[in-house]
Amino acid sequence: MEKLLIFNQKGGVGKSTSVVNIAGCLSQKKKKVLVIDIDAQCTATSYLRTIEGDCENTLFDYIIEEAAKEDVIYNISFKKWSHRAHGYIPQETNISLVPSDKRFNAEVFRKEWNDYDFFKRFFTPDLEEQFDYCIFDCPGYISSLTESALRVCDYIIVPAFADMDSLVGYSDLIDTKNRIRTETDNTGLELLGVVFTSVQGSVNRQIIAYCKDQMGVETIFKSTIRRKTIALDARIVGKPISYYKPKDTLSLDYIDLTNEFLDKIKAAKKGKK
Ligand SMILES: Nc1ncnc2c1ncn2[C@@H]1O[C@H](COP(=O)(O)OP(=O)(O)OP(=O)(O)O)[C@@H](O)[C@H]1O
Ligand SMILES: [Mg+2]
Repeated sequence: MEKLLIFNQKGGVGKSTSVVNIAGCLSQKKKKVLVIDIDAQCTATSYLRTIEGDCENTLFDYIIEEAAKEDVIYNISFKKWSHRAHGYIPQETNISLVPSDKRFNAEVFRKEWNDYDFFKRFFTPDLEEQFDYCIFDCPGYISSLTESALRVCDYIIVPAFADMDSLVGYSDLIDTKNRIRTETDNTGLELLGVVFTSVQGSVNRQIIAYCKDQMGVETIFKSTIRRKTIALDARIVGKPISYYKPKDTLSLDYIDLTNEFLDKIKAAKKGKK
């Protein structure tokens, strides 16, 4: 299993949207994906709500209430219109979700919970076997859970808007990655690069060119995600864009991004050999 953290120490830059849409692309490629939502806002959780509605158990129940691990992992399926059945039928996916919980917002949890080895214990060999990829949806700051996830993750992908703040956010992340590599036993943590989300217009494109110039082309994904209202429609419907409108250009953007980071992972693994 490869573990990806979709992270930027900045809010509202398309992290959760990218998590769900990348999970959708990997699922369409028949890869088993575990999405773990560690943000108390529960965006990925409410996006990928189960067909029955709310998830009964969450990551919080596993950590605090001692729920069984298998009881906090939900298979995700969607409703699909069938002309033959003349009604909605379930559409199975290869996505599973560990839901987040608003209770992670509690002050005590944010400040005093410092079990940074939590995810090390969570990823037992049988869980690693069960899935090809795990994708974490994080808040826009380093919480205890983010810190715990950083210690087990292999790769970080950084969604950013094409504005001048992205340069600032990225240098914070380089510091975080270096700290994890030197202060913990996760010495192989890699930053795969910045992906610009919500790209529209020539000013955005100029900023991307400027960032490539300042940060190096290898730091920025060639694939960009365009700004489209269909991103919001897909969220309302509760499906990744590759399930909602597979032929839409936004879906193609996420497919390109997924192929590009899979190639980067392949290259990174070759380099380590
Ligand atoms: N490609 C896109 N086109 C249009 N709107 C988008 C696109 N990507 C994301 N958005 C919208 O931008 C807003 C922020 O996106 P998202 O929730 O994914 O960001 P986030 O980084 O996870 O935010 P937070 O830090 O609050 O968790 C949402 O309303 C989302 O629907
Ligand atoms: Mg989010």
